[in-house]
Amino acid sequence: YLEWLGVDGVWLNPTFPSPNNDWGYDVSDYCAVHPELGTMEELDGLVAEAGERGIRILLDLVPAHTSDRHGWFLESRSSRESPRRDWYIWRDEADEQESVFGGQAWTFDERTKQYYHHRFLAQQPDLNWLNGEVHQAFDEILRFWFERGIAGFRIDVVHELVKDPPDRPNLPEIHAVLQRWRRLADTYDPQGILLGETWVLELERMAAFYGAGEDELHLAFNFPFMFAGLDSAALADIVAQTHELLPPVAWPVWALSNHDVARFPTRICDEDDERVKCALLFLLGLRGTPVLYYGDEIGMRQVEIPPERVLDVHERDGARTPMPWGDADWGDPWLPLGGNVASVAKQREEPGSVLRFCRELLALRQGREDIVSGAYASLETPAGVWAWRRGDGSVVAVNLSDDAVRAGLGGRVLLSTAGRDDPGTLGPWEGVVLDV
Ligand code: GLC
Repeated sequence: YLEWLGVDGVWLNPTFPSPNNDWGYDVSDYCAVHPELGTMEELDGLVAEAGERGIRILLDLVPAHTSDRHGWFLESRSSRESPRRDWYIWRDEADEQESVFGGQAWTFDERTKQYYHHRFLAQQPDLNWLNGEVHQAFDEILRFWFERGIAGFRIDVVHELVKDPPDRPNLPEIHAVLQRWRRLADTYDPQGILLGETWVLELERMAAFYGAGEDELHLAFNFPFMFAGLDSAALADIVAQTHELLPPVAWPVWALSNHDVARFPTRICDEDDERVKCALLFLLGLRGTPVLYYGDEIGMRQVEIPPERVLDVHERDGARTPMPWGDADWGDPWLPLGGNVASVAKQREEPGSVLRFCRELLALRQGREDIVSGAYASLETPAGVWAWRRGDGSVVAVNLSDDAVRAGLGGRVLLSTAGRDDPGTLGPWEGVVLDV
């Protein structure tokens, strides 16, 4: 399916053994596979078979905290004299700080009479990244997976990896860790990929995680873009600023959904497939690496979860429901499928479906050097329309409004969200790729 669709990389959410207090983001062993998901042999097989199809696999590294069942933490909490005591953040007194999931960011440990720090759940104690042994331990974890053929990592909570004092990020130290990982990733051929979860709402701060351009992250998620809404002026502004702020050799990343936020067709598109196609068109038509969350390609909606089925501590289950394949029997899946959109099987057969459109767009992208790597230059357009040139010979334009607009664009229509062939006028919520 992924090969048919035309993707060339897959980021898997955490695949490590975990008590699953936070859907795998509480890791109890970084060098193994969660038995519910499979075995190490199966993961190796996946990497090999995906590789044969030109698809590379990224794992989700969770370095800011471990599970409270990880051996390191069990040792750390066993006594104040433990050699691993300082691998975590222990204090005699707690301050007022709140955890991201609510409640205090400190938990008192009865046995050793100190508090440990956790930005997330009490079952996710924060590692102390001011301790050099922690750095060494993660170097080994990175090497372990790179040597197994993993293409790279999406890195969890990279923007807050090092904390000193525990309530604010220690940016110089975070950059030092990223430089160290980049040097390590660069020793592999092909180079290991570092894609950061840089959840910051200022573009300047996001851009800083690329370092000088070739010495820290290869790719950093752009959250201001994710949260810009379907507003042509806001989107154009964020994309222009992103290009200005990134070092010249750095490469942007664009995503609209992930496992932590409501799915974009519901969140910003009013569950209207014409808008969904426009969003996919700009996502895949910009200069940079687009990341689709599973289901984006079929316009999958957010699902209402009945209270008795809730699994997540932070109300994110609605974006984590099973993919409606259509011809596969899910039995009793982890979350309800919900009403949602036509299944993958149906959309594959249906001309004009979101899935067919997404696939055509990916194929067009792959066959057109301008769209893969051409420079981005925004074009003057009437209100509601956002248009840009890619490279020498391509233009992408979307009309994010309810009115038809004469946008004054010429050329030949290569693809239209509405299946029309009129380069002069964009219908309401129509997007096009033009050969100019
Ligand atoms: C990141 C993950 C999120 C997780 C949190 C704690 O934000 O994306 O799912 O809950 O980190 O690890």
